[in-house]
Amino acid sequence: MDRIRIVGGNPLNGTIPISGAKNAALPLMIASLLTDRTVTLENLPRLADVSLLVRILSHHGVDYSIDGRRQGEEQDAGQTVHMTAREIVDTVAPYELVSRMRASFWVVAPLLARCGEARVSLPGGCAIGTRPVDLLLMAMERLGASIEIDAGYVVAKAPKGLRGAEINFPKVTVGGTHVALMAAALAQGTTVLHNAAREPEVLDLTDLLVKMGAKIRGAGQSTIEIDGVARLGGAKHRVLPDRIEAGTYAMAAAMTGGDVFLQGARAEHLQAALDILIQTGTQIDASDEGLRIRRDGGAILPVDVATAPFPGFPTDLQAQFMALMTRANGVSRITETIFENRFMHVQELARFGARIKLDGDSAIVEGRRVLKGAPVMATDLRASVSLVIAALAAEGESMVQRVYHLDRGFEALERKLGRCGADIERLSSGG
Ligand code: UD1
Repeated sequence: MDRIRIVGGNPLNGTIPISGAKNAALPLMIASLLTDRTVTLENLPRLADVSLLVRILSHHGVDYSIDGRRQGEEQDAGQTVHMTAREIVDTVAPYELVSRMRASFWVVAPLLARCGEARVSLPGGCAIGTRPVDLLLMAMERLGASIEIDAGYVVAKAPKGLRGAEINFPKVTVGGTHVALMAAALAQGTTVLHNAAREPEVLDLTDLLVKMGAKIRGAGQSTIEIDGVARLGGAKHRVLPDRIEAGTYAMAAAMTGGDVFLQGARAEHLQAALDILIQTGTQIDASDEGLRIRRDGGAILPVDVATAPFPGFPTDLQAQFMALMTRANGVSRITETIFENRFMHVQELARFGARIKLDGDSAIVEGRRVLKGAPVMATDLRASVSLVIAALAAEGESMVQRVYHLDRGFEALERKLGRCGADIERLSSGG
């Protein structure tokens, strides 16, 4: 298994190109199942989750081709993938595939909407507490599907097609909103989603669906209306930049000090996190080209944070922010309101010498000035990158194990950080 070796202490200086967003790429790719025409996605990140989803979708009958590198194109430029589901050959999504990536459960919506049936394994994925799918199933049921659970599989049926309905989400759910949008796009009549997720990735999916011919009003708001259409067509769409990747590197630069330009990052997707970073003493300049993040070596100020659905502070940046707070000159409280048990990074951060106490859904971080390099291991995607951030600022050498978590969500991490002066290298198995 690969490991990443980091010798901490170098400030980050330079430009980091921000890749296409993983959490947008996945639903956009799944939406290709809704039509027999070609959906072309540009700026897809080169990530293990994207490659795996391509394989999963091809199992259902999606043909795909990937454009090669073009003249003058940077090594890190996103990929262009053409996806065509001329015919759905299999409406079963097996356990072996869905258990490897939670989001692939979302295929239930296009399969059901287009074929009138789907048999999809209950998901696996990141080990961050219990992550139920009850609200996704509620949405399908409201649209007229019958749902049964059989031997670990969700069996969804709507032989006469889906029908528009009012769907009230008791809790904001990104996956639930994606699934409801895709299913309602091909339902008969009008669907109204209440308390829909407003994450930029939801808006990106809506944009693609509209290009495919869907009739959607209120995109990006918490009430969305969808008039179903009989068929959707092909479209071309560019995946939006990854706000979580951008926020992660912003925290890394705040942690090490230095001056980093996050090329392509958009402030409006990250405002809550940027506001918090400013309070920690980090300087931020936003422009149409990206975000410049600077800290000149002055103290990192402690700030309390609570995660919340967009436009609040993202749960996917909670672990990274905690790493930053371990070096603040005071005590901060970090409260996780979205996922239970999303504090698995705490015990690993402690290995660097961080002082963190858990108090229900909060972590109390007693900042201290010096972290010491250590061997560490992570259990999920965002937790593992928080360890990388801590290691960049720790004295001496750290070894981050289980790098496959990082490869699921961070494209060319060691190259991007290495170019900005970090002492970081990947050691391949046995290396
Ligand atoms: C997506 C993101 C993930 C992010 C999360 C919250 C992708 C691929 N993943 O995950 O990175 O951390 O949004 O921003 O886009 N819930 C239920 N029942 C359900 C569905 C969800 O109770 O049927 C709960 C969850 O347990 C959680 C909350 O709702 O407490 C939000 O989850 P949700 O927004 O659905 O997360 P995902 O879409 O899985």
